[in-house]
Amino acid sequence: MKILGISGSVKRPSRTAHVVERIVAAIGRAANVSTDVIDLADAAPVLFRALRADQLDDAGRAIIDAVESADVLVVGSPVYRASYTGALKHLFDLVDFRALQGKRVVLAATGGTPLHGLMLEHQFRPLFGFFGAVTVPTTVYAVEADFTEYTLSNPAVEARIERAVVDLFDLLPATALAAGDAHPALRVVSRETAAN
Ligand SMILES: Cc1cc2nc3c(=O)[nH]c(=O)nc-3n(C[C@H](O)[C@H](O)[C@H](O)COP(=O)(O)O)c2cc1C
Repeated sequence: MKILGISGSVKRPSRTAHVVERIVAAIGRAANVSTDVIDLADAAPVLFRALRADQLDDAGRAIIDAVESADVLVVGSPVYRASYTGALKHLFDLVDFRALQGKRVVLAATGGTPLHGLMLEHQFRPLFGFFGAVTVPTTVYAVEADFTEYTLSNPAVEARIERAVVDLFDLLPATALAAGDAHPALRVVSRETAAN
C-alpha cells in the first residue's frame, strides 16, 4: 500500500510540511507501507508550468501520477486567506477527476489563529468530496504556538495525529492490509489513548 503525503506550503521551513511528515511517519509505524511526501515548495514551480493537465511536462506528470496512484493521501495546507493554498488547488486541478474515487484521505492544516481551524471542514473536506474520496473524520489542526521553531511541541496535537491514524485504519478495507501489510504494532495506538 502506498501512502503519499502532500504539503501545500510554498515555503521552507514549513510547519505544515512537518505535520504532514509526522502523520505519514505515524502511519508508517503502524503498518508496513511505502511512504513518500510531495512538498509544494519544490513541486509548485514545476506544476505551474502547466495550466492544464495536457500541458504537463515529464516532471509535472510524474508528480500527478504519484498522487493518482497513491492508495492513501495525507494532505496538509497552511491556511491562506481563510482557505487552503492556491498552489495546492492547482495540483488538484491537474488530478484526473476519477483518480481519487474511494481513496482514504487524512486532512491537516496549520494556521495563525485557532479561529480558522474550520477551514478543514468548510473548504478542505468538500474538495475531496468532489473527488469521491473518503476523508478521515479526525483532522489535524495546529497553530504557530503548537510549534517550537518548526517542530511540533504540543502533545494534544500529537494525540490528535494518533487518533487520525486509528480512524484511518478503521476506514481501510480489511483487504487493504491483508497481504502481510498489517504490522503487529498496528493496534498499539489504542482508542483510549487517542480519544483525548
Ligand atoms: C499569504 C498568507 C496568508 C495567511 N492567511 C491566514 C489566514 O487566513 N488564517 C490564518 O489562521 N493564518 C493565515 N496565515 C498564517 C499561516 O497559515 C501560518 O503561519 C501557517 O502555519 C504557515 O504554515 P507553513 O509554515 O507551513 O508555511 C497566512 C500566511 C500567509 C503567508
